[in-house]
Amino acid sequence: MVEPNLSSVNGALHAIRAGKLVAIPTETVYGLGADASNSEAVQQIYELKGRPADHPLIVHVQSPLDENKTREEEWLAILSPWTRHIPESALILIKHFWPGPLTLVFEKSKSVLDCVTGGQATVAIRSPAHPLTQELLRRFGGGIAAPSANRYGRISPTSAGDVQSEFPNHPDLLILDGGPCEHGIESTILDVSGEGSPKLLRPGSISPTMIKKATGIDVVSNSRTAKQPRVSGTHLAHYAPHTALFLYSQSEIELPLAQLICQLPKAQLAVLVWEQEHIHHREVLKAYRNNLTFIPITMDPTSFARQLYRLLRDLDQGQYQGIFIPNPPNTEAWDAVLDRLQRASFGSGPSSNNHVSN
Ligand code: TXA
Ligand code: MG
Repeated sequence: MVEPNLSSVNGALHAIRAGKLVAIPTETVYGLGADASNSEAVQQIYELKGRPADHPLIVHVQSPLDENKTREEEWLAILSPWTRHIPESALILIKHFWPGPLTLVFEKSKSVLDCVTGGQATVAIRSPAHPLTQELLRRFGGGIAAPSANRYGRISPTSAGDVQSEFPNHPDLLILDGGPCEHGIESTILDVSGEGSPKLLRPGSISPTMIKKATGIDVVSNSRTAKQPRVSGTHLAHYAPHTALFLYSQSEIELPLAQLICQLPKAQLAVLVWEQEHIHHREVLKAYRNNLTFIPITMDPTSFARQLYRLLRDLDQGQYQGIFIPNPPNTEAWDAVLDRLQRASFGSGPSSNNHVSN
């Protein structure tokens, strides 16, 4: 993590106050931020991303200074402009996980703009952990609405350079450079707006098991109980590279995968293989054809998540017509990565522009 660079934060602060967009670093991915109380500023987010107006945004808020982080009244004061009701369980989650990669969906207060919530009665809020963005939020005093800083349907950016390459026609977009993102995938989203236990809306690096361990709170998660493979639906496609992306299972390494790559004799293909199995799988597949590029990847879910979008972006820049990725283990620790991989493979390929994404 970088130390706050105060002069760059000043520039970002002026831009946000003037109703302009600023790309902000967070510990998950970069966001495309605007003053959440300025509808014209928020409107520009949708225009620049090419995102439909009914897709709600996350409001980013400051956290209290370190010594006050566990004090309820500090958090209540920060949240009061945005939410009508803060359940007890949400306060416990906040005290444990904010600032951090956890977004909570609350009943919204009346004054929250429809363009932020997509017209819904709820609002998504998170306090990001990156020191530069925290500094910006503290000086600003308000909320910054920010989706991930990618064009609609594409991979979230995890560095300032990635943001720049998403918007080549907007060289004047101000980007607060906070270095590479620590987590590399988007935050966990929990809905705490209804009765009963919080519901998992999007898996991320904070898992239901981590939440249970830290707080005793049960999270309702459908994805864990769903049978594999999880159903593909019209809303699955997010985070897609231009290059076609295929997931393969370990049991396929011999036949189906080999057959598939043989059907594409001239194509340049990148084949990701678990680092422990690298040598073996290389030998197996090399027997079927050459000109495959093998890329060993880590079996640690946290490191995998951190590298995932970087790797997909880099491979997308290469001369590949296909990227093959092994299906991760079916355990909770891999849920967030599996979710992103399934969405990426579903919407990938040069002609895929009809998918839903954020
Ligand atoms: O890590 C992150 O969450 C990043 C960084 C920039 O904070 N942001 C991010 O934003 O991933 P975005 O817009 O790409 O994804 C936000 C997700 C969307 O799936 C959206 O549908 C959901 O949050 N969301 C926002 N408001 C909601 C609401 N009121 N109810 C349910 N879901 C909501
Ligand atoms: Mg997004």
